[in-house]
Amino acid sequence: MRVIICKDRETATALVAQEILIEMTQKPDMLLGLATGSTPLGVYKKLVQAHREGTVNFSRLRTCNLDEYVGLSADHPQSYRHFMRQNLFDPLGLPPENSLFPPTEGPGLEAQCETFEDKLQEMGGIDIQLLGVGSNGHIGFNEPTSSLVSRTRLKTLTEKTLADNARFYAQNEKQPDLASTMGIGTILSARCIIVQAFGAHKAKAVHAAIEGPVMSLWPVSSLQMHPKVVFYMDESAAELLNMRAYYRQVRENEEDIQKRGSL
Ligand code: F6R
Repeated sequence: MRVIICKDRETATALVAQEILIEMTQKPDMLLGLATGSTPLGVYKKLVQAHREGTVNFSRLRTCNLDEYVGLSADHPQSYRHFMRQNLFDPLGLPPENSLFPPTEGPGLEAQCETFEDKLQEMGGIDIQLLGVGSNGHIGFNEPTSSLVSRTRLKTLTEKTLADNARFYAQNEKQPDLASTMGIGTILSARCIIVQAFGAHKAKAVHAAIEGPVMSLWPVSSLQMHPKVVFYMDESAAELLNMRAYYRQVRENEEDIQKRGSL
């Protein structure tokens, strides 16, 4: 696990975008796992900027999203399909057939979740999975007590998650409380996982993720079981980490070796 504490969100965002762009130049049809919410927005802006500057060709990029609300149509402003079209797919000019979402409509949702898993496999698996983390430690919509080996399925959202996201809904609007989400096992199958966390309200989850025991009460702690995971955070999200000084020292050493060209 690599832990990278950045001076601010902007610095972290630039580093994450750079990691994705490097992977894309090596594998233009990479399968990029995406999250929604406020955390990944800076990275999406950087990718769109690279597209506009013509430095990278995104035409073969394939994407899959972590989760989606059950009961919202694709054009509902709060649906994650709408969010992704607005913030990434349309600005990059990605054809709709390049993007996969967990199922939320039509009959046989459970069977459709299995088909979604099969599709991920057929596409060769996720190369990089981008994650944010809920203040209660959820990843995707794997709420506390989710099985650490779960696959894509339907999940009921907790009161905490509903309260965190209530700001996106009008007062009299029905907020969906059911979602389909990649499971923790599905996420752990990605070849590389990049987690971003910004702000003091994420500090408890970040501490549980990196320095706590692995337990389903903090789903994000399951990432300790993955061989290639990188956490990028700002100073406030890192404020409860006991080994902050060590993570900084590792990073400095890494930068030093990189400068000498021998890493
Ligand atoms: C959304 C998702 C969620 C968010 C998490 C953090 O696709 O997977 O797990 O990453 O709720 O949300 P923000 O980034 O809005 O703080």
